[in-house]
Amino acid sequence: MYFRYKKGLKWVNEQLQKLPTTTISPEELGEVDKLKIIFLIDYYTVDNRFKGEAGVSYYITADGFRILFDTGFNTKKEEPSPLLRNAQLMGLKFPDDTDIIVISHMHLDHIGGIKNQLKRTFSLSKKDLDLTGIKAYVPVPMTHPTAEVILNQAPTTLHRGVLVTDPLPSMLYFMGRTPEEALVVNLKDKGLVALVGCGHQKVQNLLNYLEKLIPIPVYAVIGGVHLPVTQSREVRLGLPMQKFLGTGKPPWNPPSKEDVEELVKFLKSKNVQKVGISAHDSCDYTINRFKEEWKDNYIDIKVGKEVTLE
Ligand SMILES: [Fe+2]
Repeated sequence: MYFRYKKGLKWVNEQLQKLPTTTISPEELGEVDKLKIIFLIDYYTVDNRFKGEAGVSYYITADGFRILFDTGFNTKKEEPSPLLRNAQLMGLKFPDDTDIIVISHMHLDHIGGIKNQLKRTFSLSKKDLDLTGIKAYVPVPMTHPTAEVILNQAPTTLHRGVLVTDPLPSMLYFMGRTPEEALVVNLKDKGLVALVGCGHQKVQNLLNYLEKLIPIPVYAVIGGVHLPVTQSREVRLGLPMQKFLGTGKPPWNPPSKEDVEELVKFLKSKNVQKVGISAHDSCDYTINRFKEEWKDNYIDIKVGKEVTLE
């Protein structure tokens, strides 16, 4: 396993050297005036009407273009799923209220459960919805009974001002190679807003990649950064799972407070104005450090909350 890991790290570095495979001009990408994000699945909720999970699903509206970014965990295989129930409470009905689906990476907490991961598919609920006519951009080969699944292999403009990145490489010690793509919105007069699923690709790698891809500064980073330092949301047999699984670090050197400081410093050096950290794969210690640093510009990620950036 150690040698597989070493080999994987080499592959990550080689891939990162090659990416991005192209560049995009601000004119080609375009921009949006208004960006709305509704958190449909994450660990914390605004109140107990909503169901929180250690997974991710965000609903993004960029000047009217509606994107469902990841489809949650549905840990207990419920019908309807927490995703659909939370969406209903927010006045949303799927599939009618989405134009496109983007899957950040093929891990259970982002595609509707372990069964889906094993079958290389995704779903919004236990009984899946009919997604005929809806495109789903995925970072690795996957299928879906009704959606039009598109394997994303290059930075792709989905709509004016909205882009999905190349799947960036990562090597997780136990889980192996995990390409992950991010959603990026170019917000007028502000800059890029990067929406991240789990952050396996590392936010530092993502921002360095974006710097080469498009000459627009990153204004905001919102989503998972995978820094479970003092606690893990998933504990099995007394083991803090996320500390060892889903991290690009080896088990003898798990994510640490130093890694949190490194990311804080990095985002400050890039002058990132707004930050929101997902609690689904980071602990409260990490979240509080970012809150301390970004103060009023920190975006609290809670299910049932709607954030507007303009
Ligand atoms: Fe995750």
